[in-house]
Amino acid sequence: MGRYIVGIAGASGAPYSKRVLQGLLAGGHDVKCVISDAGRRVLEVEERLLLTGNTNTDHPDILEWLGMESTGSQLELLHHKDVAASIASGSFHTDGMVVVPCSGGTLAKIANGISSGLLERAADVCLKERRKLILVTRETPLSLIHLRNMTAVTEAGAIVMPGSPGYYHQPKSVQDMVDMIAGRILDHLGVDSKLLQEWTGPEPAAYAETE
Ligand SMILES: Cc1cc2nc3c(=O)[nH]c(=O)nc-3n(C[C@H](O)[C@H](O)[C@H](O)COP(=O)(O)O)c2cc1C
Repeated sequence: MGRYIVGIAGASGAPYSKRVLQGLLAGGHDVKCVISDAGRRVLEVEERLLLTGNTNTDHPDILEWLGMESTGSQLELLHHKDVAASIASGSFHTDGMVVVPCSGGTLAKIANGISSGLLERAADVCLKERRKLILVTRETPLSLIHLRNMTAVTEAGAIVMPGSPGYYHQPKSVQDMVDMIAGRILDHLGVDSKLLQEWTGPEPAAYAETE
């Protein structure tokens, strides 16, 4: 099984973080999770998830949020100020990292190598070690600064994957749209999930309706 890092920064999109964590854990993978201060604030606002300073593995609030009784030893929550944590070193092997969601601020720090906290440091490590790094950015509209930072991280080897779902799969619910993005993220991490819907072309009926 793999070992992945999930960074949660302070952009809108907490349902994406939840689905990606669920997908990784359900697949039997180990997950190191680091959440910025603003990320915690957004989790409170969007998911009603109130995290204390606790970083224990089976944080009761996180388990309830994920709908799990225990994560065994699969999930480790690391404090974003703990730059001595395992994922701060390239010698600690991982199969990749996703920052989901990724704020404009965290994007800027990663693009400029400013490793002031564990989340940005872990991303910096992924880039220097040539490991997979996916940034699920969420902002609209985008400034020239955002666009330049997206170019910089792409040139450095990261994948910018905005949290913007498509509509061609005919989503029936918000969860369908969340799953579309989460499925694409997991696919890029090389993780099998039931969330990814492969597009094989429109239903024949869709043509009939337009004729
Ligand atoms: C509820 C809420 C939603 C936010 N949504 C976004 C967003 O979608 N994109 C963004 O770049 N910043 C967003 N912000 C602002 C960031 O959280 C803020 O710039 C913060 O300093 C980012 O810190 P971080 O990058 O360390 O997580 C939001 C803040 C709050 C409280």
